[in-house]
Amino acid sequence: MSELNNIALKILEKGKGILAADESTATMTKRLEGVNVTSTPENRLLFRETLFNSSSMTECIGGVILYDETIKQKSSKKNMIPELISKMGSYPGIKVDTGAKVLSGSPYEKITEGLDGLRERLKEYNHLGAKFTKWRGVFSISKNFPSKLSIHANAHALARYSALVQECNMVPIVEPEVLMDGEHSAKECYQKTSEVIKKCFEELILHKVDLKGIILKPNMILAGNKSKDKISNEEVAKLTLECLENSVPSEVPGIAFLSGGQSEIEATENLNLINKYNKTNFILSYSYGRALQQSALKFWSKNIQNVKGTQEIFNHRAKMNTLAAQGKWSNNLEI
Ligand code: 13P
Repeated sequence: MSELNNIALKILEKGKGILAADESTATMTKRLEGVNVTSTPENRLLFRETLFNSSSMTECIGGVILYDETIKQKSSKKNMIPELISKMGSYPGIKVDTGAKVLSGSPYEKITEGLDGLRERLKEYNHLGAKFTKWRGVFSISKNFPSKLSIHANAHALARYSALVQECNMVPIVEPEVLMDGEHSAKECYQKTSEVIKKCFEELILHKVDLKGIILKPNMILAGNKSKDKISNEEVAKLTLECLENSVPSEVPGIAFLSGGQSEIEATENLNLINKYNKTNFILSYSYGRALQQSALKFWSKNIQNVKGTQEIFNHRAKMNTLAAQGKWSNNLEI
């Protein structure tokens, strides 16, 4: 087994998933201000450190995606943050793209940037303890979107990124996110997601990326949040599985879904059903940001000193998702 394949499997073993704590400073500021907390480097660290010290880090969270600011910060006990995460039994990872900018040639769409100087930045992150990385390409659905141009350009960037990450002995998380925003049906989400993922793998193969040493981070197949088309959780699970089975090469060891604006319970329930119906060999787990942190952040914002209380809420969500990643969750386990 290759070293990268081993890391990917370790991150997702036994129902473990990934905590996406890699919100950029701008996004984290939005989240903190949303709960009336001032966004300072100290406060951003305080909340994140509270999560990183939780017991579920050992049992449920196989990897944590950090942002550039956090990977360079020290905990209150003066440990570097990646060191703290490793000590808790989890793998530190790092978001390495520099964000989605307007795509020239299709100005209503986005292209993710960050390839310039990436090889050097990767070395630095690896030195700081990162074992895996993340890059997110983003696609929106409407009558003419995503365009061939945006699918091609973003898939190309994801492949160039992945090749550089593996060259530096880290596992790339490949995240092509087809957004939930819009009026589209689940069928349209299925078609577009399938087209996007297929193109990504075409480019990954062209760039000689070892598919056994990546983790795919896709969206689930959902109807748009303004769609009239309402589908059941069972249908979400079945469509998601069908889409992945038809577009992801079997060498890929693991798939970790993003939550993408689903509520905490919805994200857990859908993941559980996906695993119940799963007949593929893929490990199907979670790499959630909002769906792992929302309730914990809300509680913490009103009880900043209450570390235990915040951790209990986070531990519960992590545990529920780890059960869901094994198809063992049920609604009566929720508090
Ligand atoms: P959400 O689970 O909140 O969608 O975040 C996951 C992520 O990493 C988006 O890039």
